[in-house]
Amino acid sequence: MSLFRKKSIDGILQNANSQNGNSLAKHLGVKDLTAFGIAAIIGAGIFSTIGKASADGGPGVIFLFIFTALACSFAAFAYAEFASLLPVSGSAYTYSYVAFGELFAWIIGWALIMEYAIGNVTVALSWSDYFTSLINNTTPYRVQEWLCLDYFTAKEHYIKVFSLLVGGLSLEEIQASEHSGLVEGFLAYSNAPKLFGTRIIFDLPALIINLIITVLVYRGIKESRNASNIMVLIKIAIVILVIVVGAFYINTSNWNPFLPNGIGGLLKGISAVFFAYIGFDAISTTAEECKNPQKDMPRGILYSIIICTILYVAIALVITGMVKYNELAVGDPLAYVFEKIKDLNWLSGVIAVSAVIAMASVMLVFQLGQPRIWMSMSRDGLLPPAFSKIHPKYKTPSFSTIFTGILVAVPIFFVDINMVTDICSAGTLFAFCLVCGGVLKLRMDPSAPPSKFKTPYVNSQFIIPSLFILFLVLAFTKFSDTTLYYIKWESLNAFFMKLPMYSFIVGFAIISFLSFKHKFSLIPVLGLLCCFYMLSQLGYKNWLYFTVWLAIGLIIYFLYGYRNSKLAKNSTN
Ligand code: ALA
Repeated sequence: MSLFRKKSIDGILQNANSQNGNSLAKHLGVKDLTAFGIAAIIGAGIFSTIGKASADGGPGVIFLFIFTALACSFAAFAYAEFASLLPVSGSAYTYSYVAFGELFAWIIGWALIMEYAIGNVTVALSWSDYFTSLINNTTPYRVQEWLCLDYFTAKEHYIKVFSLLVGGLSLEEIQASEHSGLVEGFLAYSNAPKLFGTRIIFDLPALIINLIITVLVYRGIKESRNASNIMVLIKIAIVILVIVVGAFYINTSNWNPFLPNGIGGLLKGISAVFFAYIGFDAISTTAEECKNPQKDMPRGILYSIIICTILYVAIALVITGMVKYNELAVGDPLAYVFEKIKDLNWLSGVIAVSAVIAMASVMLVFQLGQPRIWMSMSRDGLLPPAFSKIHPKYKTPSFSTIFTGILVAVPIFFVDINMVTDICSAGTLFAFCLVCGGVLKLRMDPSAPPSKFKTPYVNSQFIIPSLFILFLVLAFTKFSDTTLYYIKWESLNAFFMKLPMYSFIVGFAIISFLSFKHKFSLIPVLGLLCCFYMLSQLGYKNWLYFTVWLAIGLIIYFLYGYRNSKLAKNSTN
């Protein structure tokens, strides 16, 4: 069926080689790729969202970091295998085109906008938080509240504070209470200037960093690489400094209890912890700019993920050892733990500066990845030709780069950071599931050429079905209360809330059957299952947002991509 028309691997490689004047400059080696990976991985997650995850999960959050690292490593093998087989810019998008056909390729390309562009909205907003507090705390200047918040959050907080004021509290009392987090929004809304009767409230630092990054990426991969390498060195140095200095201030009694809120508390942090790992896959979007992609790409991906995992687990142990876990629900946890130690106050300032640098480098890689995916989709006819236009001088996808900058800028005016973090994690997990599934599908095809990097094969035929049986046994013994909760009918609304978990269980059963039947390779199957599990934990609301996003994507595909696809045109010629 034409919806599932597939690209051939040979065709893709020939096409990439024949781009001539329209091809990208090849500058990247294994060190650059590893640096790119680290640049994309270490950012808002470890400097910011780890705080809330630790406060919910306690010191045991390290289990979540280890589990997520394992899941990402399994997926990383799949990315590495595909990237060495198909060293072109499209990443998961191109891989799905080969494995599952055009419709899935479009869906994944569309989902990746969630990862890169929406992910960058999250990072830009976190960047702005750190930058604003740096200016406010270390300079005589103050960034006005209405210049560092989005309109809707400000309005929501204004309404809440207003009702507290009407209830008899003073602003000082609210500031000193557990509602203190609302005061900034209240001030932003109260003091904002008006234009035609509408209050002007927007996050100016987030917009400015987005503009700077867009210009840098537009100017060229070489300049971006140099900037990225420097930023990576700075942030690794700071993370190591935090670990080494912090280790001397660990009070082991803070690790007790290790899992204060049980598995439930731990799982609340899934989206935040997973967000901290997102980025290693972005390396694969630069495959076309690699000197030796077959060899360097897998190594770059795996090195960066291993280095970041070691750093994350160490950081999580240090910060939960330095203060009690429940104090960590702050936006700047790494700076916070040092603020509490008198002699080391200076270090919290250094951390704040490095957080600003770290997050800028994440933005750089994501802003580099998004246009390259669009470029691939445009080359295939699924997007208009402007998206694959290469700048004659800078050799970068110029239109796509500017369009990405605009796409990141628009939501900055009105979205809430928690919402974009969840949506970004959902889109990325979905992409990981498809890439793992894609490797399995490709390996079922005896005519597929061997990849120069191959995931070590372990037969999953009995392992995965045994795990499924173990899962069922545990569900009906040790976790019978949870199982009862899922089995019990409460209401239609409750049923929808449980739907993601039901989907996972059905998916697990199907994958077990297929693994038994086809003797699938274990590592991609584990990657698929772990990512699917995490996706199921992100909650019904995020599934709903994601489904709406996909529906919009499908409408665009049928209106444009389906008709203009080069594969469709070739087959009718
Ligand atoms: N992993 C990236 C970060 O934490 C997205 O900012």
